[in-house]
Amino acid sequence: MAKKELRIGLVGYGFMGRTHTNGYKRVGDFFGELEYKPVLQAVCGRTEDKAKAFAEQWGYASYETDWKKLIERDDIDAIDICTPNDQHAPVAIAAAEAGKMVLCEKPLARTTEESQPMVDAVEKAGVPNTVWYNYRRVPAVTLAKQIIDSGKLGKIFHYRANFLQDWTINADLPQGGAGLWRLDATAAGSGVTGDLLAHCIDTALWLNGSIKDVSAVTETFIKERMHNLTGKKEKVEIDDACTFHCHFENGSLGLFESTRYARGHKALYTLEINGEHASIRWDLHDLNRLEYFDHSDESQVRGWRTIHITDGDHPYMDHYWVPGLCIGYEHTFINQVADFLRSLQDGTPCPPTFRDALETAKVCDAVLKSARERSWQDV
Ligand SMILES: NC(=O)c1ccc[n+]([C@@H]2O[C@H](COP(=O)([O-])OP(=O)(O)OC[C@H]3O[C@@H](n4cnc5c(N)ncnc54)[C@H](O)[C@@H]3O)[C@@H](O)[C@H]2O)c1
Repeated sequence: MAKKELRIGLVGYGFMGRTHTNGYKRVGDFFGELEYKPVLQAVCGRTEDKAKAFAEQWGYASYETDWKKLIERDDIDAIDICTPNDQHAPVAIAAAEAGKMVLCEKPLARTTEESQPMVDAVEKAGVPNTVWYNYRRVPAVTLAKQIIDSGKLGKIFHYRANFLQDWTINADLPQGGAGLWRLDATAAGSGVTGDLLAHCIDTALWLNGSIKDVSAVTETFIKERMHNLTGKKEKVEIDDACTFHCHFENGSLGLFESTRYARGHKALYTLEINGEHASIRWDLHDLNRLEYFDHSDESQVRGWRTIHITDGDHPYMDHYWVPGLCIGYEHTFINQVADFLRSLQDGTPCPPTFRDALETAKVCDAVLKSARERSWQDV
């Protein structure tokens, strides 16, 4: 049967532009049963020679240098937003108003206030939408969700997550512009809270339900940096590090930490959940493993077990290699494309939707407000 085409218009061809494009290119190889197939119709970037080179290297049929033109095209079905955070809202809203499906990188936008009209726009237009909180699609994390939902952990007491990096310790690192927009609050909205903790919060809301209230501290260790766009030393307005604790609606306590100043850590995302009967632990650096402790095991052999998530009955894994062989970071994006295509054929949402991602934005805002005002904040 001929596949239905999903013609993609990609905005931004940096890191995420590459991971998504790889997902579109590979999904049909691994998920051959899907009725839809992505078509790399056009890529958009502001610099013509770079957009053209990306189109040639990665296989896009055409390129644009203005996202408004991309959205006007009637040979594009879905707009995929891979630009810095300040560019998410205008592109997503215009795309939805033009009747395009919208796939948007995380965080949804810089603030809740900026995110809400995006949710309104996709819902008013009734267009399929999803946000690339891709860690939900690590098979070990998906399995954690299945284990928690099966009730094996019992009542949850603790949820703990870290996202640690070390790439901004050098005080001479400038802020702003290509590659360094994450240090510029105008482009990024916030620092580690919107960039890294947003991932931890999305996973936590998915695995453990809503967060009721938060208490946070943030720090900006380097107060001024040269700004690449102004050529002057400017105040650094992002949070370099953030720690918060919280109450979940289910009665459990949460503890979250993120920093770009943890020397030795490049992208250490870890989570641990402690329940009445069992606990679960996961680490991005060893993403194919899930650690599990089951208190109902016979006491003499009771202990943390390490499950290698590579068997055919593990989430997504029957689409890849033979049992025992690993997949990697890039497969989380292939899995999300597959889930999006399946949602189109089933007529169901592909979580996290814009509305789901709005909840993460609300937690991030409450965290930043709590740190600013040195007080507990309801979400
Ligand atoms: N899901 C994840 O794990 C993950 C990981 C990294 C980044 N992200 C998110 O993805 C987005 C992009 O991050 P990145 O790391 O790919 O950044 P990047 O700096 O590597 O790439 C950004 C791209 O956007 C382009 N761009 C900027 N403004 C533009 C405009 N007005 N029109 C068209 N193109 C424009 C830049 O030229 C560049 O190609 C951010 O929102 C970020 O938070 C998500």
